[in-house]
Amino acid sequence: MSSEHWWQNAVVYQVYVRSFADSDGDGVGDLAGIRSRLDHLVELGIDAVWLNPCYPSPQFDHGYDVADYFGIHAEYGDLAAFDELLAAARDRGIKIMMDLVPNHCSSQHRWFVDALAAAPGSRERARFYFRDGRPDGAGDAHGAPPNNWSAAFGGSAWTRPSADDSQWYLGTFTPHQPDFDHTNPDVQAMFAEVFEFWFDRGVEGFRVDAISPVGKHPELPDAPPVPEGTGMLQVTWENPYTVFRPEGHDVWRQFRATIDTYMDAHPDRDLTMVAEAYMNGRPDLMAAFVNDEQFHQAFAFDLLLSPWDKTEMERAIGDTLDLMDAGSTPTWTLNNHDVQRVVTRLGRDNATDPSTVTNNALESVATSVDIAVGLRRARAMITLAMAMPGSIYLYMGEELGLPEVLDMPDDRRQDPVFITTNGERLGRDGCRVPLPWTDDPSTNFGFSASPDASEPWLPQPEWWGEVAVDVVDQQDDATLDLYRELIAARRELAVPEGLGAMVLDLGDGLVAVRRGKLIAVTNVTATPIALDSDHDEGIADAMPVFASEPDELHTPGVIPPDSTIWFSTP
Ligand code: GLC
Repeated sequence: MSSEHWWQNAVVYQVYVRSFADSDGDGVGDLAGIRSRLDHLVELGIDAVWLNPCYPSPQFDHGYDVADYFGIHAEYGDLAAFDELLAAARDRGIKIMMDLVPNHCSSQHRWFVDALAAAPGSRERARFYFRDGRPDGAGDAHGAPPNNWSAAFGGSAWTRPSADDSQWYLGTFTPHQPDFDHTNPDVQAMFAEVFEFWFDRGVEGFRVDAISPVGKHPELPDAPPVPEGTGMLQVTWENPYTVFRPEGHDVWRQFRATIDTYMDAHPDRDLTMVAEAYMNGRPDLMAAFVNDEQFHQAFAFDLLLSPWDKTEMERAIGDTLDLMDAGSTPTWTLNNHDVQRVVTRLGRDNATDPSTVTNNALESVATSVDIAVGLRRARAMITLAMAMPGSIYLYMGEELGLPEVLDMPDDRRQDPVFITTNGERLGRDGCRVPLPWTDDPSTNFGFSASPDASEPWLPQPEWWGEVAVDVVDQQDDATLDLYRELIAARRELAVPEGLGAMVLDLGDGLVAVRRGKLIAVTNVTATPIALDSDHDEGIADAMPVFASEPDELHTPGVIPPDSTIWFSTP
């Protein structure tokens, strides 16, 4: 299979808009800030930027609560600022992708406000899941929720707008995020318009948020009991009546038809839609979503969730490569705005335990972390991932080797996960801290354009300047250099090898992937490993062409600890 579409081998850089760069000094990132920092992205060599939601929103879940799908959040700018950013990015050869949130909107969306004011059975309520409550046994005929579903961020999934309302509404994540009913024609028509609106402005694709709960069993039955030991924030994802439902596929087919129709009318466009869902360990499921009628790609979270362990990593990669049977290219990623940064995850003392799922910010972190070890492993992991076919999504700041900020004061945390669990789960703020660009604390480490700026919306740690872009840019062995060189090497040495790849077993402690003539080998142990000539696939004598720790390439055929080497074989 050759590469026909830009997104099949793309390097996409995720910008968490609130935390990338602040042009107007209010302590919150914005679109003009992104525009002012595009050169950093050009130097990295990326193909596209994915913007986290930047639509008007009360920001309860930082944009994943959309109040209007056709505008820009005022703190971030306006449509003119968006157009300017898109044009500036396009001038530099960078495409813009947006984030589409179909499962729910904000409780401040006009439709939902109208629904609250309208009567049961109204057209306004039919766009959401409003259902009569059940008797609570204490005299209120509607005092108990319509069913037993729980919300992803804690508590019941149902909210009763007021004591005199006979109905409750469904919010899979929080009460601030009411779920749409996608069988409703108004909802279907609105999402078709959303795609067209942003494609007309020049957006080249969407990351589609939280696809798993879209589409529900029509009767909304009680969920069966969850297996013992299911974590409190995992309960929602065990509910067979709202997770990966057949009804969801109808929605994706409609979305795809909208995109295909748009492309028929605009043959110069090559648009894409990428599904976000944690389908790790379920390549069959992925294949059901990724095909010519639904998504172009889906995030392969297997590697992101994998411990630093040969068997688990081989499984994660193998499962994902299998996806290509469905005619798709995988979409790799090691970081995003929902998980602990990879440097911290892989530095945890349980990171090599095969039974550990190294996600995530939704757990409390009771383990100790060795950042130096984590950074080495993260560099090795990204070097392995960059060799593979498919697109790769980077999360802002990973090119600096940023660890998670774990020591944030509780009273500054803002993630609804922290709030709704009363701090039992740390939440995701630690990977969302505004980026350090310089070592100057007076400008929020260069995050804000001027010294009289307000404090950043999440506090930056004192040591933030040490990992700033300008500082690490001066260091030869910095992770920033590795990323720049890696992206260039990927384009030069890996992409030309085509879209086929397979896992190789090169022996204990080694994870290896062959892509054409290129073989990437990762040592997941703390000691050097010499390649065994019995297994060598012709690489024991091959020249290394790229290494995650280039200064340590002393002995031919030996892979240094916790590192990756690319070999080019004859
Ligand atoms: C996705 C987003 C996450 C958000 C949730 C609800 O998982 O990545 O940040 O909180 O959906 O929209």
